[in-house]
Amino acid sequence: MNPTSAPSVETATSRIETLRKELEHHNYRYYVLDQPSVHDSVYDGLMRELIDLEAAFPELIAPDSPTQRVGAAPSRVFKSHSHRAPMLSLGNAFNEAELREFDQRVKRGLGLEPNVAVEYVAELKIDGLAVSLTYQVRRLKVGATRGDGFSGEDVTPNLCTLRGLPLWLQDDAPDGEVEVRGEVFLSFEEFERINAEREARGEALYANPRNSAAGSLRQLDSSITAGRRLHYFAYALGYSDRARPESQSELLEALRLWGFKTNPNSVLCAGIDAVLEFCTRWDAGRHTLNYATDGVVVKVNSLTYQDELGYVSRSPRWAIAYKYPAEKARTIIRDIQVQVGRTGALTPVAIMEPVEVGGVVVTRATLHNEDEIRRKDVRIGDTVVIQRAGEVIPEVLEVVLEARPQNSAEYRFPSHCPVCGADVERQEGEAVARCVGIACPAQVAANLRHWASRGAMDIEGLGPAQIQQLLAKGLVTNPGGLYCLTLEQLLTLERSAEKSAQNLLNAIEASKRRPLPRLVFALGIRHVGETVARLLADRFGTLERLAGATVDELNSVQGVGPQIAESTHRFFQQSEADEVLRKLREADVMPEPMQGGEARSDLFRGKTFVFTGTLLTMQRTAAEAKVRELGGNASSSVSRATTYLVAGEKAGSKAEKARTLGVNVLSEEDFLQMVSSPDNATAEGLSVE
Ligand code: IVH
Repeated sequence: MNPTSAPSVETATSRIETLRKELEHHNYRYYVLDQPSVHDSVYDGLMRELIDLEAAFPELIAPDSPTQRVGAAPSRVFKSHSHRAPMLSLGNAFNEAELREFDQRVKRGLGLEPNVAVEYVAELKIDGLAVSLTYQVRRLKVGATRGDGFSGEDVTPNLCTLRGLPLWLQDDAPDGEVEVRGEVFLSFEEFERINAEREARGEALYANPRNSAAGSLRQLDSSITAGRRLHYFAYALGYSDRARPESQSELLEALRLWGFKTNPNSVLCAGIDAVLEFCTRWDAGRHTLNYATDGVVVKVNSLTYQDELGYVSRSPRWAIAYKYPAEKARTIIRDIQVQVGRTGALTPVAIMEPVEVGGVVVTRATLHNEDEIRRKDVRIGDTVVIQRAGEVIPEVLEVVLEARPQNSAEYRFPSHCPVCGADVERQEGEAVARCVGIACPAQVAANLRHWASRGAMDIEGLGPAQIQQLLAKGLVTNPGGLYCLTLEQLLTLERSAEKSAQNLLNAIEASKRRPLPRLVFALGIRHVGETVARLLADRFGTLERLAGATVDELNSVQGVGPQIAESTHRFFQQSEADEVLRKLREADVMPEPMQGGEARSDLFRGKTFVFTGTLLTMQRTAAEAKVRELGGNASSSVSRATTYLVAGEKAGSKAEKARTLGVNVLSEEDFLQMVSSPDNATAEGLSVE
């Protein structure tokens, strides 16, 4: 970070908060929903900014910062599996210079002269999902997804359906316990076949092969996985209690001998120049492959060197991912359509002459928002350069002005909602324009789609087509209305047979028992994603209590900032929300009780705890959960609002700050005493440092 432009603590605190929320959101979309919202490079940029800010303000680092973990928590459907060795991610390089810097860092780390060549293995970066296979005495015991890097989902029965994946290893494989790491992926052909099938059934299409592979692997019914041709390339070892090969190239050879498929294009490179040549070759050559790759993974060949180099928090120092530059193409804009989302947000979309970018034909590109259209001066009829960065839909990069037709006119963003005609408003400082229509059909439909979606109330069979019809027939006007539907009404929908109508009715009935966090998420409150929904559900325990919470109460929940508190409060103030809640109550929508989430005591009511340093007897998160269980708040930063700072081993700047602010500092033992003998639950009688 440039020291001359270092921000103040206040600016850094607020920027860090924004970055963390944004990154968590992207993480969730990427890892849990398999629906990435931004290109990797955007994510990496945000992460880099956060890492830099936290490096400049170490006192602001919190255990729940996305920099402190590798991905998102696993979804709760599958059994969770702890990896014996964590599954880390890789740092990125986007160009030659960054690859050369990596090479220099490696040499510095190994104490080698800058002009000495280090051997690397260059491998294609397969764009699938990482899977760890645990073998005991050569037998497959568990296969799990990466999850948050420390524990993932146990998807063993599904993995067993992969024909190319060895259930038993060959005789010369290690006879102890070993974790083999690799990538599960689909061919382009199979991806298209699956999508064609889904289209025929009126189901949502997978955006790309990676999502499709993830969706296929995470099926609760493994016979569905079996019907899809997933492949596996092995490329690394995790934990192993037996001797390892001496180099990555020998490891790849060994993996082949043990019975795995490995990617045939890996190359042992004598130095960084050969690596660069490999990257250039595959940047151009990747379209000849029948599976998706999104770059090249460069690994130091010697495992001794790898051990010597070690890791920085999230990734190894001995490997890096070179990411291919985004692909571009030229085409003509035929129309600009404005879509209305769940929160009324208007998104302009360019409808274009079909054009191939990176092996895919595209006809639509996002124009982001009004300001972006104005900044680039995009007009209907313009020839534009579009860019498809990995997997998200392409964006319009720039207009080719020389090719602009003479009679072209500046694009005017609609001042009224294209769907319901209500006014369009833009709040100060916001880039997004919104339709203010309360009953805007586009918003209502999007809300219902969200309500029925997988992470929310998960109503199978309630797809976009059914929702459109229910709205058109006036059978439903909000999510609460779903619970009043009758079989007779459902039978009036097009192509609705008795069986499917009954199934839908059953699915709606089953959704009444979803856990509270999912119900809170399903409501579609602005800024309340899955993580925040869980925090709110944990804290308030019932929907009624959440609906009645004051802004201050909402604000006091750790992880909930003023913006979320404000929008949550505002949501429940609306008369429409009242009506939805009433209908839900009448229909007996009763979430499953929270598992240990709700406060079970008032002991710590009004008290805020901050934990710092290493606790010896419990994980910090467990200590925080205990505080919440006893009615208190757990926060990550010390302020005047902090009641107690619990300082573990190697407590640093937070303990000092607490002392300057006059906050009581407790030892771990003091805290345990408070928790275990409630009678002593004031720190007055305890040692205050
Ligand atoms: S090695 C410690 N090799 O890329 C690093 N990863 O950002 C272990 N990937 O999660 C990973 N192809 O899903 C490695 N040949 C390859 C890979 C590869 C794809 C993925 C993998 C990992 C991510 C790292």
